[in-house]
Amino acid sequence: MTRIDDFEGKTALITGAADGIGAALAEALTRAGAHVLASDIDVEKLKETSARIGCDWALCDVSDEGAVAELVDRAWSEIGPIDLVCANAGVIVPGSILDVSREDIDFIFGVNVWGIVNICRPYIRKLRETDRGGYALLTGSEHSLSNPAYLRGAPLHLYNMTKHAVLSIGESLRAEFGSEGLGVSVLCPGPVESGLSVNSEAHRPLRYGAQGEIDFSKVDPDAISGLGTLYMSAARAAEIALHGVRVEAFVIPTHAFEKEDVDARYAETVAGFALLE
Ligand SMILES: NC(=O)c1ccc[n+]([C@@H]2O[C@H](COP(=O)([O-])OP(=O)(O)OC[C@H]3O[C@@H](n4cnc5c(N)ncnc54)[C@H](O)[C@@H]3O)[C@@H](O)[C@H]2O)c1
Repeated sequence: MTRIDDFEGKTALITGAADGIGAALAEALTRAGAHVLASDIDVEKLKETSARIGCDWALCDVSDEGAVAELVDRAWSEIGPIDLVCANAGVIVPGSILDVSREDIDFIFGVNVWGIVNICRPYIRKLRETDRGGYALLTGSEHSLSNPAYLRGAPLHLYNMTKHAVLSIGESLRAEFGSEGLGVSVLCPGPVESGLSVNSEAHRPLRYGAQGEIDFSKVDPDAISGLGTLYMSAARAAEIALHGVRVEAFVIPTHAFEKEDVDARYAETVAGFALLE
């Protein structure tokens, strides 16, 4: 038996749950009989989404450590010990390392990296205090596994860095807390229909200045022309994610083509080791 082989009667806390993949996770888990607390920084959309799904909601900015600690406490007291945390909130900031500002870096690392650390810390402490096991599903990206070839011309340097960090956080959590009963998966979606770019800009605090545009001008036109056909619905991505949790897959990709870039990176790594022979 795996840690969570059935979501019926389980409790789940989800960040970035007002829209996209997080909302789809909230919906799929609620349908499967879980008690869900959906949280997000976008209060209007969060209220709408939660009302549609029929789950509880709580406003929370994942980059605010104190607010996230309060969210975990609130979840514990309102819906009970949390079986599954989906650390899903994320933003995208386009740009090359040469062009991005210090503010760009602070913004994206605050949400994509600190946002994950901020929720995992109080969650693991609660599990320890209550002597329970639990599960953390971290939303990374195909950018956690490689620098995807079809997007390489569009510099997404910061996004790549933060999503690699998510994979690394997942590995570290599993290594340190797996023996205490923490299950960990890293969801690594390819292209999923969502409002990621628009929402990222909308929730960029004013102190970080304006957000740049993604520059597709250097992307291989053949690669970009096929992009539309690659998009998957958020509902399908959530379904794949929850299957991955049920079977305790550590890495949960959503698109088979992601493997080509992973294979290419592996081949390059092996070639490096061959120099030692
Ligand atoms: N859409 C894709 O193609 C894709 C691919 C790979 C990975 N992802 C990842 O999936 C996750 C969900 O993104 P999505 O594509 O569903 O986009 P989305 O914008 O629809 O969902 C992200 C949610 O996070 C919320 N959010 C943003 N900043 C927040 C903050 N500081 N605190 C709390 N909530 C905040 C947004 O309001 C939004 O509801 C992200 O981590 C993203 O990086 C998306």
